[in-house]
Amino acid sequence: MKIGIDKLDFYTSEFYIDMAKLAQARGEDPNKYLIGLGQEKMAAVPPTQDAVTLAANAAAGVLDDGDREQISFVILATESGIDNSKAGAIYVADLLGLKKNIRTLEVKQACYSATAALQLARGYISLHPTEKVLVIASDIARYGLQTKGEPTQGGGAVAILMSAEPRLVAFDADSAFYSENVMDFWRPLGNDTALVDGHYSTNIYLDLLNKTFQDYQAQNGYQLDDFAGFAFHLPFTKQGKKGMQALLAAHASQKAEYFMEMFEVSRQYNKQVGNLYTGSLYLSLLSLLENSSQLQAGDRLGLYSYGSGAVGEFYSVTVQPGFRKWLQKQDHQQLLNYRQEVTITTYEKMFTEAVVDGTDRKLDTTADHARFVLAGVKDHKRVYLSR
Ligand code: CAA
Repeated sequence: MKIGIDKLDFYTSEFYIDMAKLAQARGEDPNKYLIGLGQEKMAAVPPTQDAVTLAANAAAGVLDDGDREQISFVILATESGIDNSKAGAIYVADLLGLKKNIRTLEVKQACYSATAALQLARGYISLHPTEKVLVIASDIARYGLQTKGEPTQGGGAVAILMSAEPRLVAFDADSAFYSENVMDFWRPLGNDTALVDGHYSTNIYLDLLNKTFQDYQAQNGYQLDDFAGFAFHLPFTKQGKKGMQALLAAHASQKAEYFMEMFEVSRQYNKQVGNLYTGSLYLSLLSLLENSSQLQAGDRLGLYSYGSGAVGEFYSVTVQPGFRKWLQKQDHQQLLNYRQEVTITTYEKMFTEAVVDGTDRKLDTTADHARFVLAGVKDHKRVYLSR
C-alpha cells in the first residue's frame, strides 16, 4: 500500500516587507539579503495571526467533505505554539469544524517536527488505511528587531493531508535520521524570540545533511543521479543552495546543472515569504511540485529536514501519476502576489505588538482579511474569530 501526501496547501500573512528596504534600514548592502541570504520578501505577521490561525487558514481550503469524514488525527507541528500545555491542534480542529471523534496533538523539535509528524502519520495510516491524518506545520519565526537573525524571519503554515493511495507523492521505504545534543538555536522558557549561534547552526545543518544522506545511501545504494530533484529545509534560501552544492561536491553527478536549476524552482515560494520554521521544507516541496515543468510521475525527490538542537532526516518520495491536477498553483501565486507591502516602521510595530503571552487584550481585526483571526485574549484565553 502506498502512503503519502494526498493534498498540500499553504497560507501566509497578507503583509510583507521588501528585503532591500530592510537592508537599507539596517545599514546593510541590499545584496547581502537578496543574494547572500537569497531572500527577496519577508512575511510581516500582524498581531491578529498566530500559529493557530495560520494553521487553520492553511488547512481551510484543502479539505472536502470526504476528507472531513476520514480525518481521525490532527497534528500541529510548531515551535511557536500558544500554550505550554494545551495542543494548538485542538483549536485548529475546532476552527475547521472537524468532527469530535479525532485525536489531536502538538509536536515540537524546532524546524524538524513536521517531518516527525508525517512519519507518525505514515505509521498510523498503515494501521488504519481508510483514515486520513492532517498535519499542519505552522510558525512565526522571531529572532528580534535589529538582530543578525532578523532577515531570516518570516511566517506561515503548510497543511499536509496524509492518506493511503495519495494523489501527490508517496513516501519511499528508506529514511535516515540523526540526533545530536547541540546548542545552535533554542528558545528558553519565557523568551518570545529565539537565541541562536548563527554560523554554527549553518554548519550543523550541513553536517547532518552529509551524515543522513550517507546513511540513506547505505540503505538503498541510490546515487545522486537517481533523483529528479531535492527539497531542503530553507531557513533562508541560500542555506539550501549550500546543501545542494555540498551534495554535489561529495557525490559524483552527471546532472549537476539540472539539479541547480531544480533548486531554483524549489526556492521560488520561500524567497517571497522567509522562514516558516517547521513548514519551510514543505513550502519548498510545494514550490518544486507546482513550478517545475519537468517533473513526471515516478520521479524520486530527496527531502532534507533539519531542526536545530539538532535532528536531521533525509528521506525520499515518489511523484504520483496525475499529481498536477491536484495542485493549486494559481491560488498560491495569487496569495503571494496580492499581499500588501508594509513599511519597515509598520513591520516593527506588528513585531512589537505580537501576542506572545496570556495577558488580556483586545485586537483590532479590521485590517486582517484572513478567514481565521485572533481577536484578543480574555481571562488568559485566546479569542479566535471565524469569518
Ligand atoms: N553581496 C552578496 N553577498 C553578500 C554581501 C553582499 N554585499 N554581503 C554579505 N554577503 C553574503 C556573505 O558572504 C554570506 O554568504 P556565505 O555564507 O555564502 O559566505 C551571506 O551573505 C551572509 O553574510 P554573513 O554570514 O556575514 O551574515 P551574518 O553574520 O549577518 O549572519 C546568519 C547570517 C548566520 C544566517 C544569520 O542571519 C542568522 O543567525 N540567522 C538565523 C540562524 C539560521 O537561520 N541558521 C540556519 C541553520 S539553523 C536552521 O535551519 C533552523 C532554523 O530554521 C532556525
